[in-house]
Amino acid sequence: MPAYHDLNVQERILLGPGPSMASPRVIRAMATPPIGHLDPGLLAIYEEEQALLRHLFQTENPWTFALSGTGTSGMQAALANLLEPGDAILVAVHGYFGQRLAEMARRLGAEVETIERPLGEIFTVEAIEAALSRRRYKVFAIVHAETSTGAEQLHLGEIAAAAHRHGALVVLDTVTSLGSIPVRVDAWGVDIAYSASQKSLGAPAGLAPITVSPRAQEAIQKRRTSVSSFYLDLNLYARYWHDHAYHHTASASLHYALREALREVWEEGLEARFARHRRHAETLWAGLEELGAPPFIPLDYRLPPLTTARVPAGVQPHALRARLLEEYNIEIAAGFGALKDKVWRIGLMGYSSRAENVTLLLAALRDLLP
Ligand SMILES: Cc1ncc(COP(=O)(O)O)c(C=O)c1O
Repeated sequence: MPAYHDLNVQERILLGPGPSMASPRVIRAMATPPIGHLDPGLLAIYEEEQALLRHLFQTENPWTFALSGTGTSGMQAALANLLEPGDAILVAVHGYFGQRLAEMARRLGAEVETIERPLGEIFTVEAIEAALSRRRYKVFAIVHAETSTGAEQLHLGEIAAAAHRHGALVVLDTVTSLGSIPVRVDAWGVDIAYSASQKSLGAPAGLAPITVSPRAQEAIQKRRTSVSSFYLDLNLYARYWHDHAYHHTASASLHYALREALREVWEEGLEARFARHRRHAETLWAGLEELGAPPFIPLDYRLPPLTTARVPAGVQPHALRARLLEEYNIEIAAGFGALKDKVWRIGLMGYSSRAENVTLLLAALRDLLP
């Protein structure tokens, strides 16, 4: 029998920008036999997921579900449901995922304008307010945790308030932030936030949590045209999750995993979870400083779940990454775009954010760095 018939993938210590490691409980949950996607057993899981997701997003939004798809499906759903051809959107771009939001909105036929910050910087409220006053935008979109740079966009409550003053709905990408740093959807006034199962939540890739404010829900229900994507139509999703009207066949296995991961979040408690991510990140940052590979992002807005570390002079970043994988079984990632050869991206998200992982990575780097 050819070797590829064996499921013999090497287990890894996943310390890259996602996916992160799944906990033993999440892995065991996935071994549960799949049931029908409208089986009462799975409907009960959807109910529980909605409550746990509202807790995590810190929201009361009735429309809070998990889409069948990765984080990109959450991004696509947010834009495709709010925008109609010709609508104006302002996208604040401080890294690759902001660029992706703008590109996606263009493909939806929207009139897209951007404001940009150099890689590794974030926006002030004043800069965003000035851009919002250029014209009336239907939507304002921004990334909370820019995985391409390791920067956290701060001041989101004030930014969302400015967007509302100028008549725009607020879309927030929380793909990397949800589950490792606070995401306060209602307190900040976010209209649609979306995330992904495989980063700070610690489940496998394949589901995209999303939450929609009543204001955004009303805007979607008042559209002149139907949503171009049948698959990501949030009205149809709401009917699926709340009225159990068939829309698509969701994966029971992925929902077992996500429910288990969300239960772990609940049991740990949000504050304790955020503190754990910060504690292990701080140990990593101190170790990187000592090794001469200091964090690239200033402490004020450095992300605990994703650190960009400067590659020391004379070190070949990609060769070292390959050795980490081969010799220590540890995955970290290269930089993105202009930062490709300048930084490594190290993730400490969800179940990956543990003391032993930080200790092992620092010891391995000490070994491999000249
Ligand atoms: C900030 C951000 N947005 C969106 C995405 C896209 O998510 P996915 O790769 O799960 O489709 C990612 C993935 O890395 C991300 O980091």
